[in-house]
Order: sequence, then C-alpha cells, then structure tokens
Amino acid sequence: MRVCVVGSGGREHALADALARTAEVVCTPGNPGIADVAECVAGPPEAVDADLYVVGPEAPLVDGLADRLRAAGHAVFGPGADGARLEGSKAWMKEVLVAAGVPTARHRSFAPGDAAGATAFLRALPGPWVVKTDGLAAGKGVLVTADVEEAVADAAAKLVSGGVVVEEGLTGPELSVLAVCDGARAVPLPPARDHKRVGDGDTGPNTGGMGAFSPVPGAGKDVVDEVMERAVLPTLRALRAGGVEFRGVLYAGLMLTPVGLRVLEYNVRFGDPEAQAVLPRIDDDLAEWLRAAAVGGLPVSGGPRAAEDACVTVVMASPGYPTAPVAGARITGVERAAAVPRVRVYHAGTALDDEGALVTAGGRVLAVTGRGPDLPSARATAYAGVAAVQFDGAVVRRDIAGAA
Ligand code: AMP
Ligand code: GLY
Repeated sequence: MRVCVVGSGGREHALADALARTAEVVCTPGNPGIADVAECVAGPPEAVDADLYVVGPEAPLVDGLADRLRAAGHAVFGPGADGARLEGSKAWMKEVLVAAGVPTARHRSFAPGDAAGATAFLRALPGPWVVKTDGLAAGKGVLVTADVEEAVADAAAKLVSGGVVVEEGLTGPELSVLAVCDGARAVPLPPARDHKRVGDGDTGPNTGGMGAFSPVPGAGKDVVDEVMERAVLPTLRALRAGGVEFRGVLYAGLMLTPVGLRVLEYNVRFGDPEAQAVLPRIDDDLAEWLRAAAVGGLPVSGGPRAAEDACVTVVMASPGYPTAPVAGARITGVERAAAVPRVRVYHAGTALDDEGALVTAGGRVLAVTGRGPDLPSARATAYAGVAAVQFDGAVVRRDIAGAA
C-alpha cells in the first residue's frame, strides 16, 4: 500500500514513522525528519498518487481537502468539511454534544459583539471561568481563570472579531482518547495525557501541547469503554443522523471530574503531541486500520493492538512560544539523541538552512519520545534524549509524566 500523509509537523512524523512499518509512505510537504522515513514532495496532495490519504492537521480538513480527494475517487482518512466543523466551531461542537446527550461543561455561545450577554452569563456562573474562541486557534484560544474580571475582559476582546463560548471551569485530570472512526463504527487507540500549559507545574499560557504520555494511570479499559459508550459512539450517531459521515480520528479531550467524565472538546485529527506518545505503541498494521476506516470497514469492536509498554514524549519549543516564538536557531545533537536506545526524535518545526544545517522553524521544534517498560523509565529515556539536543533558548518542561 502507498500512503500519502498530509502535513509537516511532529504528528505527521509520528504517523509516517508508524505507517512506514507496513506501507510505502509519501508525505506532502513533510519536513527534514520525515524525509528519513518517507518520500517528501512539495506539491499539493491532489497531485500525489496513493492508495490512501491521511490528513494530519485540522486546517486542511476544515477547508475541505478530504472532500476534494474523495470526489476524485480516493480513500481518505480524515473527515470532510462537515465533520471537521466539530473542531472548526466550538459553538457547533457544543450543539452536537447536547444533541447526542454527551456530558460537557455548562456553557453558552455568544455572537460577535455580544459582550453584554457574555458578561451577564459570566457573572451568573460560580467560577472558575472559561472563555473560548469559537474558531480554530491551535489550542491557544482558551482562557481559564479564577478572576471573573479577567474573563469578562477576555470575552469582550475576543468578541470584537469573532464568536466565543463561555463555560464553567471544571476540575480534574485530563485525558485524550483518540478513536478511529469509519462513519458508523469506532475503535479506540490507547489513551494519552497531554500537558497544555507552557510552564512546569501547569503554569503560564495554554499551548498546542508541551508533552504527552501513554498509557495513563487510572485510565484503563473501563474508562476507555465509558468514553466510547458515553461520548464517541453517541456523537458518531448524532453526526450520522445529521448526514455527516465521519471517517477519521475523533479525538475526545476529556476531564475526569469528581462527578464523572466531561468532554471539554473534540478534535478531528490525531493529537499533537499525543500521536508521538500513542503511535509508537501501536503493535499492529496501522495502514490497514486507517484504510479500513477510510472505506467504512472497521470491525464492530476491538481495535489496533497496543504494546504493554509506555511512551513519554517531551516537546522542545522555541524561545517565546506560544506567544511570539523566535525561529532560525541552529539545532545540534539530534543524531546523538536518536542514538540513545529507545529514543525517537520527531521533527515538528525544523528546516534546513542554505548550508544544509538543521535550524528551528516554528513554535514547537522537536518532540523527543522515550519508550520503556513503564512510565518512569520511558520518562528517564525521553529526558536523556532531550539532554543530547541543543538550540538557543529551548523551552522544555521538566515535569512531563512527572506525576504519573
Ligand atoms: P480546549 O481547546 O477546549 O480543549 O481547551 C484547552 C484546554 O483548556 C483544555 O485542555 C483544558 O486544560 C482547559 N479547559 C477547557 N475547558 C475547560 C473547562 N470547562 N474547565 C477547565 N479547564 C478547561
Ligand atoms: N495536544 C492537543 C491537540 O492536539 O490539540
């Protein structure tokens, strides 16, 4: 099978790596790390010849890339623009959750300009308070605060240019469950936990994710089954009832609150950096599973086999991330890191400069994954890999999987 992976980040590197175990992989456009495991081509995905297309990021999905490829007769793993709206509009996602009876935070959506409405709703909620940008924001459009005045000001500022969703702040550990869906059926991948804040101890602004690990203590088969029964499958049914055939990853971002699980958000693609911690553990033919999903042929139960071990992935980001990342720094030591046993270095934002040297080219630069029999050993391995890599001002959390 020849698989075309669309994208250029760490998630796509992990996808290409996992798919290349059983398939020939071409990646568009790819990055310098992906070039080690796949053929990278610059042109549009429509110009690539493949048996299966796997779309990595949300933006091209929201933009209808999967629809265009399907219209040309291709098998595609990734929802059409209709399903991708789950991620493209948090307000619509909330409507689907409510229609499907999926537990979520108390919330209300406000149209651009309705600062008065948002303010009144915020003041009526007990707090903490959460304000979310309605459109795509790469994980950075969410404010969680214990200060209602900050929430009111943030909502007013966001409402100048777009809609917002305001909701009650929940507490509890978070969990990411990525389900592979074929429109009617869904099978889960091993769960992961992301670290969203930029600073150690979950401080500072939200980011796209600073590290992740899998498996997650306390999130065994019973929890995953509950997520499938109470969230993923009802959501797929509600989508289907509305004429949406969702073929791709439905990624449930959950909070395990004292009163039960709540869906915080859905994403419509693999998590980044969750993919870098989950996909190495898939001990099965990933290309076949994704092809089955793309053609509507998943089994009713079961799912890809996962190794019993653990993965921890640590992101190395550019200075200034997430607000104003500064790129262009020389990166050294990637080969040394990759030579550490059980370390895999995924490229996220890297490029080759005019002299062919590896340089930083984005907010998140590398995701270093360590594998081991358990989380503490995988964690030690990941940080041993990180220690081998250098670039100016690298931002690295030191506590990924630390509490696990
Ligand atoms: P989202 O993009 O909706 O997943 O939000 C990003 C992050 O904000 C989540 O991973 C949580 O850490 C946090 N968050 C979102 N919604 C809530 C909520 N209702 N209560 C507390 N934290 C939240
Ligand atoms: N790691 C969070 C995301 O992929 O949205």
